[in-house]
Amino acid sequence: MKNEKAFIFDLDGVIVDTAKYHYLAWKNLANSLGFDFTEEQNEQLKGVSRVKSLEILLGVGKVNLSEEKKEALLKEKNKEYLAYVNTMTSAEILPGVNKLLQFLEANKIKFALGSASKNAPLILEKVGLLKRFHAIVDGNDVTKAKPDPEVFLIGAKKLNTAPENCIVVEDAIAGIQAANSAKMTSIGIGDKTVLSEADYVFESMNEITSDFLQNLIN
Ligand code: G6P
Ligand code: MG
Repeated sequence: MKNEKAFIFDLDGVIVDTAKYHYLAWKNLANSLGFDFTEEQNEQLKGVSRVKSLEILLGVGKVNLSEEKKEALLKEKNKEYLAYVNTMTSAEILPGVNKLLQFLEANKIKFALGSASKNAPLILEKVGLLKRFHAIVDGNDVTKAKPDPEVFLIGAKKLNTAPENCIVVEDAIAGIQAANSAKMTSIGIGDKTVLSEADYVFESMNEITSDFLQNLIN
């Protein structure tokens, strides 16, 4: 039904903390190219596509490479990242996620994934959440990266509801901006000052109460 409320979740930093694995793989790549890559610099890669992430990384190291070499590095980075992903279990689901999904299921509210990651279905499968999502939109489905609203608009369509009824949960500024320009309600997970553009901000998923959710869906 077109007027039903629905949730759309980002993956990395909201459902699971894969940012640490992305960081390890990017850092190793930087080191192999002869420069260091700090955790602080890694912040710039959150919510950003794989290709764009490499561009930012090479910018940090002031390294110029051929398209061919970049292709090879992207493959190498993803191979290492997937080695970490393959060790993941449900123990890596972030605190508060299960409680929130249970609330939505109990209230018959549909939810989708809206992620820039091409590895999103595999990660959800590894942590045992894939089947619970009513729709998946990932890096293979979109042509325009966040802050473009495309990923979330496709999500609303797949959930068969209007964008205005969707509530997006995001940890990246670009993701909050994407939700806002899709005219969706935005919930930021993280630092209030960083995510100041969000309609609501919580430090972690664990802080979201049933009362808050009840008000949101009524
Ligand atoms: C998410 C992460 C980014 C990552 C992107 C692509 O948005 O926050 O750090 O670069 O997905 O991920 P992928 O798994 O396709 O390399
Ligand atoms: Mg994220």
